[in-house]
Amino acid sequence: MRILGVLLLLSSLVEGISVSQRKKVVQSFSVRRNSSSTSTPLQVGNGNFAFGADVTGLQTFQPYGILSSWCWHNFSLPTTPGQTSVTDFTGLQWWTHDRLVTYNQPNPAQDDISTWLIKNPQRVNLGRIGFSFGQKSVSEADLQQKSQVLDIWSGELTSSFVYNGSSVGVATYSDPDSDTISVSIESELLKTGLGLFLDFPLPDRNKFNAPFVGVFNETDQHQTSLEKVSAHSAVVKHTLDQTTYYTTLTWTGNGSVTGPQQGTHRYLFTPSSSKVQLTLAFSPTLQAQEADYAAIAARSQAWWESYWTSGAFIDLSAVKSPNATELQRRILISQYLLAVNSASNNPPQESGLVNNGWYGKFHLEMNLWNSLPFARWGHFPLLWRSLPDMYTRFLSSSFDRARDQGYLGARWGKMTDPTGRSAPGEINSLVIWQQPHPMFFAETEYRSFPNATTLSRWDTILTATADFMASFAYFNKTTGVYDLGPPMYPVSENTNPNATANPTFELAYWRFGLDIAAKWKTRQNLTVPSIWLTVRDNLAPLPVVNGAYAVYEGIPSMWTDPATTNDHPAMAGIYGLLPPPLSGPPLNESFLRKTADMIYELWDLEQSYGWDFSMLAMNSLRLGDRERAVEYLLHPIFQFDDAGYPVGGSRVPTPYFPNAASLLIATAMMAGGWDGMEGMQFPKGWEVEVEGFVPAM
Ligand SMILES: *[C@@H]1O[C@H](CO)[C@@H](O)[C@H](O)[C@H]1NC(C)=O
Ligand SMILES: *[C@@H]1O[C@H](CO)[C@@H](O)[C@H](O)[C@H]1NC(C)=O
Ligand SMILES: *[C@@H]1O[C@H](CO)[C@@H](O)[C@H](O)[C@H]1NC(C)=O
Ligand SMILES: *[C@@H]1O[C@H](CO)[C@@H](O)[C@H](O)[C@H]1NC(C)=O
Ligand SMILES: *[C@@H]1O[C@H](CO)[C@@H](O)[C@H](O)[C@H]1NC(C)=O
Ligand SMILES: *[C@@H]1O[C@H](CO)[C@@H](O)[C@H](O)[C@H]1NC(C)=O
Ligand SMILES: *[C@@H]1O[C@H](CO)[C@@H](O)[C@H](O)[C@H]1NC(C)=O
Ligand SMILES: *[C@@H]1O[C@H](CO)[C@@H](O)[C@H](O)[C@H]1NC(C)=O
Ligand SMILES: *[C@@H]1O[C@H](CO)[C@@H](O)[C@H](O)[C@H]1NC(C)=O
Ligand SMILES: *[C@@H]1O[C@H](CO)[C@@H](O)[C@H](O)[C@H]1NC(C)=O
Ligand SMILES: *[C@@H]1O[C@H](CO)[C@@H](O)[C@H](O)[C@H]1NC(C)=O
Repeated sequence: MRILGVLLLLSSLVEGISVSQRKKVVQSFSVRRNSSSTSTPLQVGNGNFAFGADVTGLQTFQPYGILSSWCWHNFSLPTTPGQTSVTDFTGLQWWTHDRLVTYNQPNPAQDDISTWLIKNPQRVNLGRIGFSFGQKSVSEADLQQKSQVLDIWSGELTSSFVYNGSSVGVATYSDPDSDTISVSIESELLKTGLGLFLDFPLPDRNKFNAPFVGVFNETDQHQTSLEKVSAHSAVVKHTLDQTTYYTTLTWTGNGSVTGPQQGTHRYLFTPSSSKVQLTLAFSPTLQAQEADYAAIAARSQAWWESYWTSGAFIDLSAVKSPNATELQRRILISQYLLAVNSASNNPPQESGLVNNGWYGKFHLEMNLWNSLPFARWGHFPLLWRSLPDMYTRFLSSSFDRARDQGYLGARWGKMTDPTGRSAPGEINSLVIWQQPHPMFFAETEYRSFPNATTLSRWDTILTATADFMASFAYFNKTTGVYDLGPPMYPVSENTNPNATANPTFELAYWRFGLDIAAKWKTRQNLTVPSIWLTVRDNLAPLPVVNGAYAVYEGIPSMWTDPATTNDHPAMAGIYGLLPPPLSGPPLNESFLRKTADMIYELWDLEQSYGWDFSMLAMNSLRLGDRERAVEYLLHPIFQFDDAGYPVGGSRVPTPYFPNAASLLIATAMMAGGWDGMEGMQFPKGWEVEVEGFVPAM
């Protein structure tokens, strides 16, 4: 079935960019390293599981992560009287217009349970596997001729090195269908003491666990045991408080597993022939390992070939500019890395499955960047792993969140774990731009699949979302318009929430969301709730200062105080990320141009998060400046490392995947244009071939 599917795809593409051309372009960006990086691994993975390797193809010298979307851990609850249960937590009440509303914010009188709720659960690093050189202490400097290639076309990572005059060759793959890696090792040294170790860490308590996740020396805080040993397999059970999972190692030929060594969670695998093939599988329950090395390698090759041949494609190889080459590199490796790190059943975390940021949790406002590329690049099945199911699963807790605050509908959370619980936080509880995201996803899907299935699967979610959005807008009797906030945080999380009202981006996005919700009802011949239209048609006007859109209404010293020109320049998002409004007054082009110019001249992009560059690039495209769009995408502060990982910059650790995702959203817009300006929008003189793009809204 799998092979047939691939063949059908291949034959359906003969009209466009040929498979051999796609393969040539993709493989010209294979990643090569001669030594381990100390900040990023090379990875194999499948979106729900990923394995980070150092230069040995395993984790011999650098303990990079093995992360999944399913394995999470809680430290024990506090024992402080009155704070021993999550239901003891009260949050804080803030004045919201004329009433007190309870927000999910850390309560200083309940510090222990507040902190527990922020720090738990954490995403677990499943383990570590590396070469063991016997009794000798060997460092990476003791290896010669180190060389490594990650072929992103097949998902194969090949590594080789020489130790004490003998060569070692390693091939590493991830199974597309399970949480398993397969490894082939060839070396005469395997007969004379070269073996492998397995080790298991305890989660650590830091917000950011980068570049590595967990601690290996607090061994008395968790338990491992060798459960089942047979001639060709061994199972290690790992127990971390309430969390248990199993690691199954299988091998070909003779070999044995021993351990743990005294006072550690370290196990040794000792093979006895010069070639060994392994699988290493992780699962929450004990399972028989069925697929062997060769089966997994073949599945990986087939899956990746189907990925590269089925999606949209941009071929910049004919453009004789180093800028185009660098853009092509970023585009291709970002596509690889998002499939490995972000194509998950839950929304991905910002650092994917490389390391942990925010305890491994995911942010619902960032999910627009993180997940939208799968839709824009023709990989809907990867988007559908989490959407719209995630919204359906979190619907009931989001209804509760809105109801407890006196609103109708569903208020989506922010920094979230798989149960749908949003972590306490002042910003977490007051940011609002995640609310219209379901409309963006739904409408994007409808443009590719305009049928009744799409309409019905999103209808309940959009209705609940629009009900909240209409209910949240506050009718200001003095001005006769609906206000957003206060209190609230806009996209740029650096304003006084009690003074922030009517931010430009959120007003535009509220209109967009209500427009789409209304269209959704109309398409189904259903009545549009009149309150949605009343709110939409009476939203506060977009705030303007000195002829340019401002962060929010009444912001002091906009454009003249540097405090107003840093963090996210979200005003550029209203004509870039968002399409022009479907209702209400049109955007004023002179304001749009002046806003873009002022940002270009004044904004402190050092203090920016990388996806701002992609947002500004999309704004430049709509304003007709394609050269500036490319300039933003190649801005010196917007970096991708030697292996294509998006660099975090001054605010967050590396990698920071919203940068890679946003780059794909912006380049999809360059390739497909948008409504009213369909077709390619690359700089003048660029000879580009593209295929498979639907214009942006
Ligand atoms: C790795 O080593 C080879 C051979 O010495 C060299 O040609 C290549 O440039 C090196 N690659 C990197 C990424 O350093
Ligand atoms: C962690 O604790 C929370 C609150 O009791 C619970 O909802 C969640 O399922 C727990 N997660 C794990 C992985 O134990
Ligand atoms: C906002 O107002 C609430 C009272 O409604 C107060 O508790 C809080 O400290 C204020 N926050 C800021 C940042 O001024
Ligand atoms: C290197 O290999 C030789 C035999 O080929 C052996 O005698 C020696 O102990 C090895 N050295 C190390 C450091 O493994
Ligand atoms: C574990 O290692 C860390 C970092 O080296 C150190 O700070 C910590 O004290 C160690 N913990 C134990 C229990 O040895
Ligand atoms: C595996 O072990 C068995 C029993 O000790 C032995 O007869 C056989 O020769 C070994 N095979 C290899 C490939 O080493
Ligand atoms: C709508 O489109 C999707 C994707 O092509 C398809 O799976 C589904 O069957 C379609 N539904 C209808 C009712 O045509
Ligand atoms: C109504 O809007 C005005 C102008 O934006 C603002 O000053 C006032 O605080 C708002 N009224 C309420 C009750 O929020
Ligand atoms: C809506 O009504 C129109 C006109 O009666 C009809 O053509 C169309 O099929 C209906 N659409 C749906 C989704 O029921
Ligand atoms: C844009 O705003 C300026 C300044 O208020 C005004 O002169 C101009 O007419 C507006 N343009 C449009 C198209 O509304
Ligand atoms: C490459 O991009 C830089 C920065 O955007 C620009 O200054 C330069 O002119 C571009 N070079 C070419 C050959 O297009």
